[in-house]
Amino acid sequence: MNQPAVVHTRAGLGPARAALDDGEVAVVMTMGALHEGHAALIREARRRARHVVVTIFLNPLQFGPREDLSRYPRTVDSDLEICAREGVDLVFMPTPDVVYPDGDPGVRVSAGPLGDVLEGQARAGHFDGVLTVVGKLLHLIRPDLAYYGQKDAQQLLLIRRMVRDLDFPVEVVAVPTVREPDDLAMSSRNIYLTDSDREVALALSRALRAGAAIAAEGPSAVRRAARTELVAEPLALVDYLVLVHPENLLDVPEWYRGEALLAVAARVGTTRLIDNLPVRLG
Ligand code: PAJ
Repeated sequence: MNQPAVVHTRAGLGPARAALDDGEVAVVMTMGALHEGHAALIREARRRARHVVVTIFLNPLQFGPREDLSRYPRTVDSDLEICAREGVDLVFMPTPDVVYPDGDPGVRVSAGPLGDVLEGQARAGHFDGVLTVVGKLLHLIRPDLAYYGQKDAQQLLLIRRMVRDLDFPVEVVAVPTVREPDDLAMSSRNIYLTDSDREVALALSRALRAGAAIAAEGPSAVRRAARTELVAEPLALVDYLVLVHPENLLDVPEWYRGEALLAVAARVGTTRLIDNLPVRLG
């Protein structure tokens, strides 16, 4: 098992990145607390690229003042073990002052209207913070390929849009959501769940499965089935449950045929969880 090179600074990144110039480079961006979902991204990246760079950076810009930045799990040793196990070449693990040397950046990437709905409605400015750091990391790492999880479908969509709209020279690759054996979508935040929260949390994926199972009956049937399943668990405090077009995030009309996104967000205990499933209508 080869240990990846680990660098913390821009000065360290220069030569470490230059050493990977003999083939395609893929990046997997993370906020640490790595789990099997992250590992799946790394494995997919390795299948196509000669070299894989993992970034571990808990980006303050994408957390709101009342969000969980200070209690976000930090598991550096196990993160580096996973990177070594998965054959990562280089880990870039900067601190906020390395990424934002002048403090809060005055200039940011704007996610636009797609950043204001769903997750963006609950978390004002969140996606501007995500896109700003993703843009910076793309410039710093200069990858050929960049891997993101379907778990964060709106984030994935917005990154695709940014890459297209701002002509970043990178190919974005999506990886399906990795789940626990009981179908809970893996998330760094799952460790906040108590045993009883965890039972409650299963209502999210159950609702998505119930909706997806009757896709043939059309959008309103899908929404109804999913909602029925979700409201059966009153301890899951639903923020939204929507069936939307995967590219504009608008509710799909009843006559719609094709790919849609069934997405849910709910608070369970003190933890906000999101999940989604692609649903093929018609
Ligand atoms: P983080 O939540 O650490 O997730 C890093 C990447 O792993 C994202 O692309 C996310 O979609 C993916 N991922 C998380 N859980 C997954 C699962 N169960 N199955 C498949 N992929 C999963 O998302 C972020 O960090 C940040 O916003 C970031 C893009 C790094 C910018 O700061």
